[in-house]
Amino acid sequence: MKFMTAEPFRIKMVERVKKTTKEERQKWLKEAGYNAFKIKAENVYIDCLTDSGTSAMSSEQWAALMLGDESYAGSKSFFKLESSVQDIFGLPYVQPTHQGRAADYIMAKLYAKEGKYAIGNMHFDTFRGNAEVLGALAVDYVVDEGKDTTSPPQPFKGNIDINKMQCLIDEKGSENVSVVIITVTCNNNGGQPVSMQNIKEVSELAKKYNIPVVIDAARLAENAYFIQQREEGYKNKSIKEITREMFSYCETATMSSKKDGMVNIGGLFVTKNEDIFKMAQQLAIVHEGFITYGGLTGRDLEALAVGLQEGCDPHYLEYRINQVKYLGDQLEEKGVPIVRPTGGHGVYVDGRRFFPHIPQHEFPSQRLVTALYEEAGVRAVELGACAFGSKDPETGDPIWPEVETMRIGISRRVYTNSHMDVIANALGEIYKNRDNYKGLKLVYEGPIVSLRHFTAGFELL
Ligand code: F0G
Repeated sequence: MKFMTAEPFRIKMVERVKKTTKEERQKWLKEAGYNAFKIKAENVYIDCLTDSGTSAMSSEQWAALMLGDESYAGSKSFFKLESSVQDIFGLPYVQPTHQGRAADYIMAKLYAKEGKYAIGNMHFDTFRGNAEVLGALAVDYVVDEGKDTTSPPQPFKGNIDINKMQCLIDEKGSENVSVVIITVTCNNNGGQPVSMQNIKEVSELAKKYNIPVVIDAARLAENAYFIQQREEGYKNKSIKEITREMFSYCETATMSSKKDGMVNIGGLFVTKNEDIFKMAQQLAIVHEGFITYGGLTGRDLEALAVGLQEGCDPHYLEYRINQVKYLGDQLEEKGVPIVRPTGGHGVYVDGRRFFPHIPQHEFPSQRLVTALYEEAGVRAVELGACAFGSKDPETGDPIWPEVETMRIGISRRVYTNSHMDVIANALGEIYKNRDNYKGLKLVYEGPIVSLRHFTAGFELL
């Protein structure tokens, strides 16, 4: 029933946001070099740049902050976090970090090896960056329908293609594959989930060849909800039963707590391998802080201990996933081409189908980001030619990515469905007038191509 998916919370405090004019936004866009990262947040009406670190905390989390134990070592808050994590992951060893990418760094140091392959469905940029620095070869083996933004809806477009994994092992030898990383949900292709069966099969294949499996668990609860709703045999299992089963198939998990942890900062490195844990603790001491705080304050640890539990609440998850779907359904009704089905944390609009007359080298999805901000003060992010484009190391020729989208990331517990209506209506208008838009010219990149979407500058064509 539709009304049952409404917000399972009420609003106790509000943060005011500014409404601006189209003329102002045009000026700010120009000043920002048509790069959404360079627009001041105070000039954004609805911020969908990311779902990361932008959650609204609950009154229980704010209350927990006051209990923060700021002791350098052995903080009471650490032990609360540890038992909350153990409860959800079912894994014994817990190392907090200051962000997900810090956990990625530790994980890459322990599992990525020079000249060896790291197989993933689609690696997130921060692991890929770490792996590349270490000389490892990060390959994306998501199933074909996961890469094709026009493919019909399927329940688990985040799955790893087992055949591709087997082929690589046969071709290169299992000794040349150092790790398999499953990102749940798969952020780069639409927040698409990975099925339990796939996690299990990947794990069985990896085990046969003694290859460790890691789960990048930033959106663990959203993935578990999709398994519960879509996979046979899980309807009557609780979210936590599902998360524990997911992690039973891996050796180690990393997590950006800024997503399903429902906090504004933090990360986790969790493992069942005691030797790996000891090494992770050493790396944490050098790079993060002592093992019981890992770069976070005691109050951060408290808020995360509570937030992880709230993120696994079935009523919250039902509302959350259905809010994203609500936006996706409206866009579909207006004919706006999106990745289907909608995923866990956002709606991904297909830039190529939206602006078929704008070629990839003129950045159709980035153009859409600028159009949406100009029209309605809504900030989204490009995940396409700019973010994922690369260059041939020998010739320097551009290589354009298969996935070309604009992600509308939905923050947790922050916006109402009226905000979703604003986004849908604005995009509907732009879509009607799509023929009037021209592409963009990239005029500045910054020194590292794989990070250029943060720094790039554009001009209107
Ligand atoms: N892994 C995944 C799957 C992520 O989506 C992110 C961050 C990280 C790791 C890194 O975590 O930001 O805490 O250091 N994703 C954000 C996003 C930035 O917008 O998708 P972090």
